[in-house]
Amino acid sequence: MMLRKQHNNKVALLSDSSRKEIDEWIAKYPVDKKQSAVMSALRIAQDQNGGYLNDDLIDAVAEYLEMESIAVYEVASFYSMYELKPVGKHKICVCTNISCMLCGSDEIVSYLQNKLGIGFGEITKDGKFSLKEVECLGACVNAPMMQIGEHYHEKLTPEKIDKILDSLD
Ligand code: FES
Repeated sequence: MMLRKQHNNKVALLSDSSRKEIDEWIAKYPVDKKQSAVMSALRIAQDQNGGYLNDDLIDAVAEYLEMESIAVYEVASFYSMYELKPVGKHKICVCTNISCMLCGSDEIVSYLQNKLGIGFGEITKDGKFSLKEVECLGACVNAPMMQIGEHYHEKLTPEKIDKILDSLD
């Protein structure tokens, strides 16, 4: 595991509105359990930073929640909704787990990769799209599927993908 130093005075990297939003999450938990807001706080910090987290922001969240940086880093690196490097304006998460695989996720992945000219973990040249392979997102009955932003797109076909991508700015 990578060793990380504890940094100080990074809280200022969180914008006022991020801090306000994190405070709302902290308020949902007992006073001595503000660490429970860590997942929301990371999501908020990530949104503030164009969709990905860096070491400084992870330190900022740690400081704000009075946690060890390494503990926050472990959360950020464990869950697939957090990004530790830049992503496209639209992050396309394609499920390749068993139900989606049985329903043709391989073809969906090939189609997306050919259409966009990128592989998993890459960003299109114009910065508009990035592709990510993810585990089951709980939409197996409508496999194959992908998630873009908050939206699930299900029962995918190449035609459907064309329409979805065309509709995005
Ligand atoms: S296997 Fe793809 S959503 Fe469950």
